[in-house]
Amino acid sequence: MSNAGSTTANHLAREARPHGQPLWLLAELTYKCPLQCPYCSNPLDFAGAGAELSTEEWIDVFRQARAMGAAQLGFSGGEPLVRRDLETLIAEARQLGFYTNLITSGIGLTGQRIAAFREAGLDHIQVSFQAADEEVNNLLAGSKKAFEQKLKIAREVKAQGYPMVLNFVTHKHNIDRIDRIIELCVELEADYVELATCQYYGWAYENREDLLPTRAQLERAERITNEYREKLQAEGNPVKLIFVTPDYYEERPKKCMNGWGEIFLTVTPDGTALPCHSARMLPLEFPNVKDSSIEQIWNESTGFNYFRGDHWMKEPCRSCSEKEQDHGGCRCQAYMMTGDMHAADPVCGKSPDHGLILEARQAAEAEYTESNITFRNERNSREFAKGARGQ
Ligand code: FES
Repeated sequence: MSNAGSTTANHLAREARPHGQPLWLLAELTYKCPLQCPYCSNPLDFAGAGAELSTEEWIDVFRQARAMGAAQLGFSGGEPLVRRDLETLIAEARQLGFYTNLITSGIGLTGQRIAAFREAGLDHIQVSFQAADEEVNNLLAGSKKAFEQKLKIAREVKAQGYPMVLNFVTHKHNIDRIDRIIELCVELEADYVELATCQYYGWAYENREDLLPTRAQLERAERITNEYREKLQAEGNPVKLIFVTPDYYEERPKKCMNGWGEIFLTVTPDGTALPCHSARMLPLEFPNVKDSSIEQIWNESTGFNYFRGDHWMKEPCRSCSEKEQDHGGCRCQAYMMTGDMHAADPVCGKSPDHGLILEARQAAEAEYTESNITFRNERNSREFAKGARGQ
C-alpha cells in the first residue's frame, strides 16, 4: 500500500461524488485456458487466485448488477467455455434482461454447445484468432490444432445464425500479414472484425519488446486496412473493419475504461470486483462479492472511489486543460511504468515519464534477431523461439 496509504483517508473523507452506474459487467468466469497467448491480459500470478465463484454466486452477482442498471454482460476468462455451467449462467443472465456476449478462443467449442447457447439466449459470440497463418497462429496459441479448430468453430457460429465477430490481436509477428488476415475474415464472411493492436498489460507487458510493432509496421497496416475498407465497400461487402492502434504511438493518453468506476465493473474468477481488468496489480484494496453487495462495492469501496474525480491528480494532470477528456490516462499503465499510480500516464507527451514510451518505441525499431517471448509454460517459449528462427 506504499502509494495509497497516506492519501486513502483523505479520499474517503471527501463527500461522495456523483458517478455513473455499472452499465458494463465483465464476468471473468475462470483463469483456466487451453491456450498460452503471450499477450494474455490475465494476471501473471493467476495460479495464486482463490477458488472460483459457484454458479449460485455468479447468478447473485448478475442479479445485483442488473438491479443497479447493468445492461451488457460479457462472459470472458481465461476461457469461459471451461465452465460447464456456462449455459445456465447465460440463461439466467438473459432472463434478467442482459445483452450477453461470449468472448472465446473457440477452443473446445462444438456445434452442439453453440446450439445450447443459442437455446439459452446468448446474443453474441466473439471468436479470437492469433494470426491468419496456421503456423504462426499455433505457435502463438501454444497449440498445434488451434487454427483448424478456430476456423471450424467460426464457420459453425455463422451457420447457426450469429453475426461473425472476429478479433485478431496484432503485434510485431503478425501485423505484416494484415492483408492475409483481412482476406481470411472475408472468406469466413465476417460481419465485424476487430484488428486490435496488443495492449501492454499482464503477459503482454512482460513480452512488450517482442511484441510492439514499429511505427512503420503500424502505418502500413492501417493504410492496407483502409484500402480494403474501400474495396470491400465498393463490392457491397458489409463487413466492418475496426483498426485499434496501441497507445504507445499516441501523444495523449486514453480515458481508460471511460473513466474509473464510471460504467465498467469486472468480477474476477474468485469474486474480486475491479474497475478495470488490470487493477488488481495496484496497491489498493479491492472488495470481493463474497463479502460486500455490488451496491456497496460500487458506491462505497475505497478501490472504486479512489480515482473518481480529479482530487488524486498530481501535476501535470492537475492543472491540465485536457484532464476532463483523458482523466490522466490509464492508472495501471502509470503504475506499471513509473511505480506511482497517481502519476500521469507516460503515454502523455506532457508526462515527465514520457521518455519511457519513447524508449519502448526505439526498442521496437531494433533489428529482430531472437524471440525471448515468455509463455505461461516454458516449453511454449522454447517452441516459439525456434519457430521465429525458422527451425
Ligand atoms: Fe486499469 Fe487502465 S487498465 S486503469
